[in-house]
Amino acid sequence: MREAALREALTDDWTMFEEDATEELRHGICVSNLAYCVAKQYGLYEDQCHELAVAGMLHDIGKLRVSGYLYGRDEDTLNIEEMKYVRMHPRLGYETLIRYDFSDDILESILYHHENYDGSGYPENLAGDQIPIGARVLRVCDTYAALTSDRPYRRAFDRQTAMELMIEEVKNFDMKVFLAFQTVIHDEELQHKWAPGSFRVGIAELE
Ligand SMILES: [Fe+2]
Repeated sequence: MREAALREALTDDWTMFEEDATEELRHGICVSNLAYCVAKQYGLYEDQCHELAVAGMLHDIGKLRVSGYLYGRDEDTLNIEEMKYVRMHPRLGYETLIRYDFSDDILESILYHHENYDGSGYPENLAGDQIPIGARVLRVCDTYAALTSDRPYRRAFDRQTAMELMIEEVKNFDMKVFLAFQTVIHDEELQHKWAPGSFRVGIAELE
């Protein structure tokens, strides 16, 4: 049962995290909501959309395994040694979650959520349609959620600026997914479904 596995994974692994995980959870919720909406807009089946909501919640769980190397830092300011550990987190997340009852689609979405469409990502430098569709959706949603959040060294970008920055890096994204994402972001009717604070898909109660 996916919900049971999600709760178990969150309870076992997130509570191991010695630092305050509030921001990580908030980011997970944002990516989860957005991934659900983008998958829906893209035309995936309801079951796939729901699975992506689960994957969005858990996509960075592997960072907990490297948190000792990264405490108080942010991915954008890491040195090369630290970057090596950051680059391990998709596989570490996959290895953590494979112990639970998650589908292959969820596990692969998490394993490949830092692959870029042009082949410049990690961990395996997959390109184009080699990257599972779920991972291509997460890549876009994760980037937007990160840009529109405060970081220790910068304030959150507004929607327009975040969109411009993503267009500059559009080589990283599946264009069809990116277009679905743009539709979701610009559709005021959909805002309440993905905006922070609205946990719509009912996969976990975190408060
Ligand atoms: Fe990540």
